[in-house]
Amino acid sequence: MASNLRRVVVTGLGLVTPLGIGIEQTWSRLIAAECGLVSLKDIRLNNDSPAHPRLATFEGLPSQVAAVVKREGGRAAGAFDGAEWLERGDEKRMALFTQYAIAATKMAIEDAKYENATEAQKERTGVCLGSGIGSLDDMANTSVGYVENGYRKMSPMFVPKILINMAAGHLTMKLGYKGPNHAASTACTTGAHSIGDAMRFIQFGDADVMVAGGSEACIHPLAVAGFAKAKSLATRYNDSPQEASRPFDKDRDGFVIGEGAGVVVLEEYEHAKKRGARIYAEIKGYGVSGDAHHMTAPPSDGAGAAMAMRRALHNARLTAADIQYINAHATSTQQGDIAENRAIKSVFDGYHDKIAVSSTKGAIGHLLGAAGAVEAIFTVLAVKNNILPPTLNLHAYDEGGEFNLNYVPLRAQEKIVNAALTNSFGFGGTNASLCFAKVD
Ligand SMILES: *[C@@H]1O[C@H](CO)[C@@H](O)[C@H](O)[C@H]1NC(C)=O
Ligand SMILES: *[C@@H]1O[C@H](CO)[C@@H](O)[C@H](O)[C@H]1NC(C)=O
Ligand SMILES: *[C@@H]1O[C@H](CO)[C@@H](O)[C@H](O)[C@H]1NC(C)=O
Repeated sequence: MASNLRRVVVTGLGLVTPLGIGIEQTWSRLIAAECGLVSLKDIRLNNDSPAHPRLATFEGLPSQVAAVVKREGGRAAGAFDGAEWLERGDEKRMALFTQYAIAATKMAIEDAKYENATEAQKERTGVCLGSGIGSLDDMANTSVGYVENGYRKMSPMFVPKILINMAAGHLTMKLGYKGPNHAASTACTTGAHSIGDAMRFIQFGDADVMVAGGSEACIHPLAVAGFAKAKSLATRYNDSPQEASRPFDKDRDGFVIGEGAGVVVLEEYEHAKKRGARIYAEIKGYGVSGDAHHMTAPPSDGAGAAMAMRRALHNARLTAADIQYINAHATSTQQGDIAENRAIKSVFDGYHDKIAVSSTKGAIGHLLGAAGAVEAIFTVLAVKNNILPPTLNLHAYDEGGEFNLNYVPLRAQEKIVNAALTNSFGFGGTNASLCFAKVD
């Protein structure tokens, strides 16, 4: 709002997703309309020696689909191999969500050409990186181990591995950053809050550069069982996993759980210009709101979501007329997609034919605490490349004609995108919207 706030730009991007490792792999497959969803029957659990056999299988669960980061073949094959990203001993010391965060951060810093920051720069550089769930694997395994074997066999790494802020903590240690060391944990809004809060740190002068994002490694029987019990997951497409996530499609029946990490390097505008950094986009606005309504369900008019978008626009000093693209939160649930669509239509009243809306969750599922960060990166790339990523599996709309916007069905579209929004909503009724724009 106040024009004396410092400007903040995006200068580096890093991704670990079910579509690949890094921006090139993920983005090229995303705009080629490829899908990263697989059957849970086909995946190997990370936990090689679970404390109980039930912790090693997804058998008997109503949802049998997930968006999983590949683990075989290393970066060249689009897979995450800890040995390529971590130092000796790290894999034992760090939960998987922390490992993903480290890989995504290394990519983002290299992309920003910021790996040789001076000591003075490092003092003014911080990290703001959270997770929605953290390490269920360690919690479940340790619980069973404790019940069976008691205190003596418990690992001293238990607490340091499960703390949500430990990804940020490890990063500051590895990188020597002495600015803000912060982690949001706001369910599926975590990634968006992390990036928005990091933007504020730079605007208010607490830091010049921030590494920000979200990470999630939640493909665990307890997570699938828990979200299934909450009736959140898709269950009708267990035999055709690639069709299971279908935002805005009339046959949607729940979200598909996913994992990965997204990290951006945010930088004060003059700082970026001075060191000749490539600028992807400016982060211009951040709006947050609470529904004050229900634990897991949005109000059907999407009031909370609309308020977050209005606040992001106000904060960016833009209006509905300035926006060409919205990366929706739309997770492929019946209610959620309707509420968000209503919210978008009310905020963009009068501009329905000017905007395009897509949900990339058809391709990568719902990455929970990482979703907001990964989708912010897709939004930045839409602004940079003037390409709208598609909504997969979108063949038909609900009766009644409510879904009457351009949802970029099935195929990517070319469109000049000067400014865009990306939405994230989480259990607990927490909503955030970020606004990115071309730098003028
Ligand atoms: C899980 O617990 C078992 C038994 O306590 C232990 O042998 C195993 O290493 C643990 N696995 C992980 C991934 O922590
Ligand atoms: C950082 O320093 C290393 C070692 O001197 C050098 O190889 C690399 O090119 C530098 N990176 C950048 C972005 O300047
Ligand atoms: C805001 O957060 C709620 C809380 O669960 C989320 O479900 C909802 O989609 C968001 N609100 C809307 C769309 O109005």
